[in-house]
Amino acid sequence: MAETEASATKRIAALRAEIEEHNRRYYEQAAPTISDREYDRLYRELVDLEGSFPQLVTPDSPSRRVGGEPLKAFAQIAHRVPMLSLDNTYSEEEVGAFYRRIEKLLPNEKISVVIEPKVDGVAVSLLYEEGRLRYAATRGDGTTGDDITQNIRTIHSVPKQLKGDAPRIFEVRGEVFMTKEGFAKLNSERSEAGLPVFANPRNSAAGSLKQLDPAITAQRPLGVIFYGTGGVEGMELTHHSKLFPLLRKLGLPCSERWWPAESLAEILRAIRELEKVRHDFVYETDGAVVKVDAFAQRESLGMTAKSPRWAMAFKYEAERVETKLLDILIQVGRTGVLTPVAALEPVVVSGSRVARATLHNEEEVARKDIRIGDTVVIEKAGEVIPAVVSVRTDLRDGSEKKFRMPKKCPVCGSKVVKDEGQVAVRCVNAQCPAQLKRRVEHFAARGAMDIEGLGEAMVEQLVEHKLVREVSDIYRLTSTQLGELERMGEKSVANLCAAIERSKQQPLWRLLFGLGILHVGVSAARALADHFPNLDALIEASPEELQRIPDVGEVVGASISQFFREPGNREMIEKLRAAGLRLTSDRKTAPASDSKIKGTTWVITGTLSKPRDEIAEEIVQHGGKVSGSVSKKASFVLAGEEAGSKLEKARELGLRVVDEAAFRRML
Ligand code: IVH
Repeated sequence: MAETEASATKRIAALRAEIEEHNRRYYEQAAPTISDREYDRLYRELVDLEGSFPQLVTPDSPSRRVGGEPLKAFAQIAHRVPMLSLDNTYSEEEVGAFYRRIEKLLPNEKISVVIEPKVDGVAVSLLYEEGRLRYAATRGDGTTGDDITQNIRTIHSVPKQLKGDAPRIFEVRGEVFMTKEGFAKLNSERSEAGLPVFANPRNSAAGSLKQLDPAITAQRPLGVIFYGTGGVEGMELTHHSKLFPLLRKLGLPCSERWWPAESLAEILRAIRELEKVRHDFVYETDGAVVKVDAFAQRESLGMTAKSPRWAMAFKYEAERVETKLLDILIQVGRTGVLTPVAALEPVVVSGSRVARATLHNEEEVARKDIRIGDTVVIEKAGEVIPAVVSVRTDLRDGSEKKFRMPKKCPVCGSKVVKDEGQVAVRCVNAQCPAQLKRRVEHFAARGAMDIEGLGEAMVEQLVEHKLVREVSDIYRLTSTQLGELERMGEKSVANLCAAIERSKQQPLWRLLFGLGILHVGVSAARALADHFPNLDALIEASPEELQRIPDVGEVVGASISQFFREPGNREMIEKLRAAGLRLTSDRKTAPASDSKIKGTTWVITGTLSKPRDEIAEEIVQHGGKVSGSVSKKASFVLAGEEAGSKLEKARELGLRVVDEAAFRRML
């Protein structure tokens, strides 16, 4: 369409406003409302228009800036070398154009490139000094990012100390991701707890990194892949292909696959091969990155306004399939949350047959305007969970029906309530058979009490025959009762009885997790079992004491107190005790109660004789609390060597700063 300057001015302004808004949602709230593809289309339209009307380009156009504004709540860190963005495309022709441009700019030179996965996570930059991790930052606006050091330290695969001969200064760039499996689990837990779900693993990784409380980040299954460097001193790196062995040697995780290429044909072959193998990676990938190998060549190619000429991202299309929404069913979860589920005309998406897709909650259904009878577009979120991404409203014939959440539980008929400030609707009847089934399944699950043979079908029968009315009834089942159930021969009965008997010896944390207390995941359960000598001590603990335990905090602490206040739950515990379950913990040391640091709050900074998490553990063992950020609430700042911005801030606030020797004396 031929644009006049006047119409282009208007369109450019509209596009900029829209892109700014989506940038804010993506970078600052980690909650985008459009797909990458749609965003890229808007962005491309803006770039094209600005290309045709260069006089309309302004330096503050989103096409000239990278990413979002840094978050205000975090301290800011200036990158040694700016963090750039990549030009991206969905077309092989444009990869060809990219390669030909390089050939033209570097005549008579041999050009080698490297193709590697584009990890779909959150860009981070870490600084190692003399091999020790000093700080970590998000990309922010490309020049300055958020200080997320404490959060990054909770990721197990991030080394605090590099292996071997590390360069004096090593600024390394990579992508923090949530595993596809971890994402699926986290979302089902959040949905069960009535919390909003994440749209994909990238959003959940971003949301996890942006926690002001590192204890929350620590509970999320995060990993990292490094793919580049920023400022490096004390070492000369000449080729990108040499970075992979170097990263490995230093103990920094990097991509398991990469391809060298010396022609366009080889590049395209690698891109197509990666598209096939990428589904096997534990993290989500959304494309391939093509990078010129030799740093000297990168230097001469230089960059455009915001991205280098030596690299380009090729993005894969997410596979989307249309199908009919036959009905919206209601599933009742362990805590009574009612979840709408799409019953679909079966279709194959990304290699597997899909007939169900979770719709999460009523608001999600309303936001997407999903109606029964609609033709819907299906995609796999994080390549694993089928999700309805949009509706073909143009195909409606008027017979589609709007969805209403039922006012009563479809299983037991009790009334449903909506918790204040939450999107979830919950059945209030704790005896609801649907809830009971889910609770028993959860109790017996592999991650909890691990009772083999007590899966969904078995639980269904036990509850339907009223043999199990609550979790502790599992331990009163007799072989005669089990033998009367469907498909239960002598051998199966014996196996199940043995598995139930074995589960009595499971460690306390498994039982705590298995009880299905709202918000108590595996890490909170482990932290509780480490903190208390036995279940009775935990039951007697005040909400304040619970909240002081790392990995527990306010919300979880309150939920635990409430759970054990319920007389029904106390009765159940007594039955479990009578059945002979292990209610004592295996923890090694008892917390000292007369320590000087009891009830104080600590911020740890700088390099200490032990890893920070171990020191934090000691503080908690002695009744103290650890905070990730410096504020007036902190009683003490424990400063090790080379403590940086936190120490400065602590001094500004006039907090008491102690060194490790003084800390030991206080213990
Ligand atoms: S190289 C100038 N390599 O994609 C080079 N980036 O759109 C900058 N990303 O900001 C980055 N996987 O967050 C590079 N193998 C990879 C990557 C990768 C994911 C992200 C990164 C970057 C964005 C660019």
